[in-house]
Amino acid sequence: MAKRILVTGAAGQIGSELVPFLRNIYGNDNVVACGHNKPLPVEIVNTGPSDYVDVRNVAEFAEKIKKYDINMVYHLAAILSASGEKNPQLAWDININGLYNVLEVAREYHYGIFIPSSIAAFGPNTPKVNTPQDTIQRPTSMYGITKVAGELLADYYWKKYGVDARGVRYPGIISYVTPPGGGTTDYAVEIFYEAILHKRYTCFLKHDTMLDMMYMPDALKASVQLMEADPYKLKHRNAFNVTSFSINPSMLAEEIKKYIPEFVIDYEIDPVRQGIADSWPDSMDDSCARQEWGWKPDYDFPAMVKDMIEKLSAKLLKDK
Ligand code: SER
Repeated sequence: MAKRILVTGAAGQIGSELVPFLRNIYGNDNVVACGHNKPLPVEIVNTGPSDYVDVRNVAEFAEKIKKYDINMVYHLAAILSASGEKNPQLAWDININGLYNVLEVAREYHYGIFIPSSIAAFGPNTPKVNTPQDTIQRPTSMYGITKVAGELLADYYWKKYGVDARGVRYPGIISYVTPPGGGTTDYAVEIFYEAILHKRYTCFLKHDTMLDMMYMPDALKASVQLMEADPYKLKHRNAFNVTSFSINPSMLAEEIKKYIPEFVIDYEIDPVRQGIADSWPDSMDDSCARQEWGWKPDYDFPAMVKDMIEKLSAKLLKDK
C-alpha cells in the first residue's frame, strides 16, 4: 500500500526538514505538510500538498486525515521545554490534548504514528550517565511531564487498540535550516549562528553542562528507520533512547574554534533553563534502539561541527 503521510508541526525545526526528506522517499504528492500558526516554508508549499491544522481540534484533525487519505502521521507539533515553563497550561494543552486527539482519530483511521519523546522524559533522580532505556522517569518540567505521559499513552493505544504508535527520545537536535524555538538545548544551534556572524556567543547554560545531542540528518534517519522497522522485532515502542554524542558548551566552543579561531564564548546563566538541563541525563544508553531496529548515527561530534560550519556559513552568506 502506498504511504500517505501527514506531518504536524511541519514549520518547526524538525518538521521543515522531515517533509522534504519524506517526500524524497515516498513521493512529493504523498506527504502532506501541516502547520498551525507559523507559515510553512515556501519550498514546502511549492513542492507538495500543505495545509494548516490545530491538533487540539479533534474534528478538524479527523477531517484532514480523511481528506488526504492518510495512513501514517509524524506528529511533531509540540511546545518545547523552556516555552513550556513560561506557559505550562499551553504546553499541556498542545502536547497532551493534541496527542490524545491524534491517537483517538487513529482508532478509526488506523494510521501508524511517529511520536517524538525527549531526554526531557527523565528527571533529577534518573541515573545521569548511560541512562538506561527502562529506568526512573520523574521529570520536573511540564514539557517532560507531557513527554512521559505521551509515551505511556502511546503504548496504551498500541496495547489496547492496536494503534501502531512508535517514538524515540530525541536528544538536542542541531541543524541549520530552521532554528529551534523555546528549547533548552537551543544553545547548541545558536552558538553556530553567533560564531559565524559575530565571532562571539553568550551561553545561557554553564560551561560544563553535559547533554546528548544529534545532527539533523541522523534525527531524520532515526524517525523513518523506526517507522519502517519490523513491528515484531520491537520489544519497546515508546520511546527509544537515541543519541549521537554527549557534549557541553565548552567542548562545543573548542571544536568551533578549530574553524573560527577568534571565536569567544562567555556565560550568562539562565536559572530556568539551567535547572531544566541539570535535571536531564548527561548521556543516554541507546543500545535497545541499536539492537531492535538497527539504529546507528552517521555523524560524530567533529563531523557534525565541520558540516554545520560549512553549510551554515554558505547559507548565511547567501542570505546577506
Ligand atoms: N530540545 C528539546 C528542548 O530543549 C528537548 O527535547 O526542549
